[in-house]
Amino acid sequence: MISTKLHTAINDQINAELWSAYLYLSMSMDAEAKGFKGVANWFYVQWLEEQDHARILMNYLNSRDAKVTLKPIEPVRTEWDSVLEMFTETLRHEKVVTGLINNLAAIAAEDHDFASSNMLVWFVNEQVEEEESAREMIFATESVEGNKYGMYQLDKELAARVYTQASPLASSAE
Ligand code: FEO
Repeated sequence: MISTKLHTAINDQINAELWSAYLYLSMSMDAEAKGFKGVANWFYVQWLEEQDHARILMNYLNSRDAKVTLKPIEPVRTEWDSVLEMFTETLRHEKVVTGLINNLAAIAAEDHDFASSNMLVWFVNEQVEEEESAREMIFATESVEGNKYGMYQLDKELAARVYTQASPLASSAE
């Protein structure tokens, strides 16, 4: 049985993942409004991925006979000064999420809840990738700063990003 402490923390994490999804959707809409269709696509894929993260956690609680309790999603920012600022905020936010995931892993370890620890390994690894990809986007955007044609090319590249369902969902019966 999952502990009350971990059950509450995973419910909170579901909310945090949905908030992340909403944040990236907001960035996508702001980028679209400013004419950066590729950047908008990059963040739209991010919004889909964050919903997967929430879904994995919801499936997990259900599988442990622990109720999912959805909470309101707090408002998100709706405007950014530049694409670079969006990616900088993405990295800052993902570092916060890494801390939240580490906290879940610490509770599972304290509880000797090996099933939860095992489930959380995917999230621990995912956060390494999330931070790395945000850093790459910051580097790419900084590289073309002040160069409109470079930004146009980068935007075209980001239009090619495609969504792939998270592996824990792809292998589940859902
Ligand atoms: Fe759900 Fe971007 O981590």
